Amino acid sequence: MRDRFGRTINYMRISVTDRCNLRCRYCMPDGITKCAMQEILTYEEIVEIAQAAEDCGITRFKITGGEPLVRMGVETLVRALKDLPLTEQVTMTTNGVLLEEKLPALMEAGLDAVNISLDTTDREKYRQITGRDCLQQVLSAIRASAEAGIRTKINAVLIPGCNEDSFLPLVQMGSELPVDVRFIELMPIGEGRSGREMDNRALIDRLNTLYPGTTPDPEPRGNGPAVYYAVPGFAGRIGFISAIHGKFCDSCNRVRLTSTGFLKQCLCFEDGADLRAIVRSGEETGRRSLLTEAIRSAASNKPEAHSFDRPELITEKHRMSGIGG
Ligand code: GTP
Ligand code: 5AD
Ligand code: SF4
Repeated sequence: MRDRFGRTINYMRISVTDRCNLRCRYCMPDGITKCAMQEILTYEEIVEIAQAAEDCGITRFKITGGEPLVRMGVETLVRALKDLPLTEQVTMTTNGVLLEEKLPALMEAGLDAVNISLDTTDREKYRQITGRDCLQQVLSAIRASAEAGIRTKINAVLIPGCNEDSFLPLVQMGSELPVDVRFIELMPIGEGRSGREMDNRALIDRLNTLYPGTTPDPEPRGNGPAVYYAVPGFAGRIGFISAIHGKFCDSCNRVRLTSTGFLKQCLCFEDGADLRAIVRSGEETGRRSLLTEAIRSAASNKPEAHSFDRPELITEKHRMSGIGG
């Protein structure tokens, strides 16, 4: 479907939990969000919403959290989404801590691609950023995932004065492994409000200086806003998600479903539709068209763009983990 600005909306991010097994500073500064289990959508409810989303032309689903792999049996959701008639793709974004053990079940269920968050390759810095000593587990999961042949990307958020020196070691992971390494500009959401973002334009300049012959690679490599570069001799691509210095809202293709069933129109604002109220009401036959109507209305009325450059206009108060990353 198209929204009121003519953008194609075909992608839904689905958060299955607010919980996470790490404590990243910019994501979950004060521990696990306590949300009663009955407030969280069941997998059946998520699938019912996804079915209605397909009626609206949304055929690509990204499973997120919090950390999606802390929710039991998430592979059954992957399978159920893959089994819907119009599904083109089901992918996941994870911190990678539990990925290696879950990988066979996820692949068996048909997962199409996986993105793994990794902000540094330094063990002590990883522990400082995430509160846990899990670097080896995550590195091992990245390797296992790449070797298993599933499309694998790394997401890194660099913060000046914290982990900006991780740029080169992270870039080098794309040299050895067939994984795309992407650098994300910190957005002023949640704890990101108190941090400063790196300017990806400077990182692209650095990449070009470090690796002469680097060229933009226009081939699409997912459904997201990343732009990619090919570095001579590298197995993977280097990507940049420049939410601040390369605003990409004019090609926005997405809505996000929170774990409690709220359909958010944009990362930056709180507006959206309460789909949980619909999915928990009335008869299933009648619900389908109500859900379709609510999704179509929310998606077509998405805002034109974020207002990250005008903090007084940002209405989103939740942390990134609460709104699906
Ligand atoms: P694929 O490349 O298809 O896997 O999609 P993706 O890049 O959307 O996936 P991922 O979940 O890895 O998102 C990476 C990062 O992009 C997120 O952590 C956010 O920082 C940023 N991002 C994702 N969606 C949006 C969005 O709608 N708006 C903005 N401004 N940033 C987003
Ligand atoms: N800005 C940009 N990315 C963020 N993430 C968490 N908070 C922010 C923010 N404020 C990223 C994490 C992870 C993904 C799910 O979201 O680093 O890669
Ligand atoms: Fe879309 Fe909002 Fe993200 Fe811009 S900030 S890309 S409009 S969700």
